[in-house]
Amino acid sequence: MLAVRDLAVRFGGVTALESVSFDVRPRSITSVIGPNGAGKTTAFNAITGYLRPTGGRITYDGVALTGLRPSAIARRGIVRTFQKTSVFPGLSVEDNVLTGLHLRGTAGFLAVLAGRRRLVAEERALSAEAATIIDFVGLDHRRREAASALPYGEQRLVELAVALAASPRVLLLDEPGAGMTGSEKTVVSGLIRRVREQGVTVLLVEHDMRMVMGISDTVIVLNGGRVIAEGAPAAIQAHPDVIRAYLGASAGSS
Ligand SMILES: Nc1ncnc2c1ncn2[C@@H]1O[C@H](COP(=O)(O)OP(=O)(O)O)[C@@H](O)[C@H]1O
Ligand SMILES: [Mg+2]
Repeated sequence: MLAVRDLAVRFGGVTALESVSFDVRPRSITSVIGPNGAGKTTAFNAITGYLRPTGGRITYDGVALTGLRPSAIARRGIVRTFQKTSVFPGLSVEDNVLTGLHLRGTAGFLAVLAGRRRLVAEERALSAEAATIIDFVGLDHRRREAASALPYGEQRLVELAVALAASPRVLLLDEPGAGMTGSEKTVVSGLIRRVREQGVTVLLVEHDMRMVMGISDTVIVLNGGRVIAEGAPAAIQAHPDVIRAYLGASAGSS
C-alpha cells in the first residue's frame, strides 16, 4: 500500500501542500481531484521523487520513498506520466516503448548477459513485449511512425504505453484525459480499468468528472493544499465542502 502522511510542500512563501495524508489501497483506482492550484501535481511530484517535500513521509509497503531519486522510485514499481505529454518526439512509437522497457527493474541485467547471442535474444524478447504493449493501447497501426507525427490523443496513449512498459505496480496518471476527445477519453477509461484488472494500483489526477466518477473506487479532494474530502464517488459528489470548493472556484474565475 502507498501511504502519504502529513505531507507538506512549500515553494518559498507558497504553501502547495499542508498536512496531506491519504492511503492508496492495492489494486484500487484512486483519483485526486481539486481546483487548479490545489496541489495535485505537487503531490504526484513528491510521491515520485521529482521534488523533496518540506515535511511528511511517503511509504510504499512500509518502505520510505521520501528522499529517493525518481529512478529509484520507478525501480520500486511506482511509475508516472506527466500532465504535459512527454514522449520522445523523434523516436518511433516502438522505440518510445523500448525506452520504457529498459527503465524496468533490471538488477543484474548486464551480469546475466552471457555474450552477444544472449543479447540478440534479449532484444528480440523486448521487441515482442513492446508489440504486446502497443497492441494493448491500440496503436498497432502506428508502431513504426514517429511519435511526433501522431495526433495529440494518440501521443498521450504512447506515453501511457511507455509507463506500462516500465512494469508499474503503482501507476500515477496526471490528467491522462487532458486534450483528448470524448471517445479517446472512453478508450483511456477502459485501458485504466484493464490495467487495474492486471493487478496494478492506479492513482489518477483528472479534471473530467465523468471519467473520475465512472472509474474510481475512492476519490480524494484537495483544495488549497489540504484534503477536504475522501470517499466513494457518490459520497464525494454529494459532499457539501466539495460542492462549495468547486462552486467557489468557478465563481472566482468568472
Ligand atoms: N515549482 C514551483 N514553484 C513555485 N510554486 C509552485 C511550483 N509548482 C507548483 N507551485 C504552486 O503550488 C500550488 C499547487 O500547484 P499544482 O500542484 O501544480 O496544482 P494542481 O496540479 O492541483 O493544479 C500552486 O499555487 C502553484 O502555483
Ligand atoms: Mg496539475
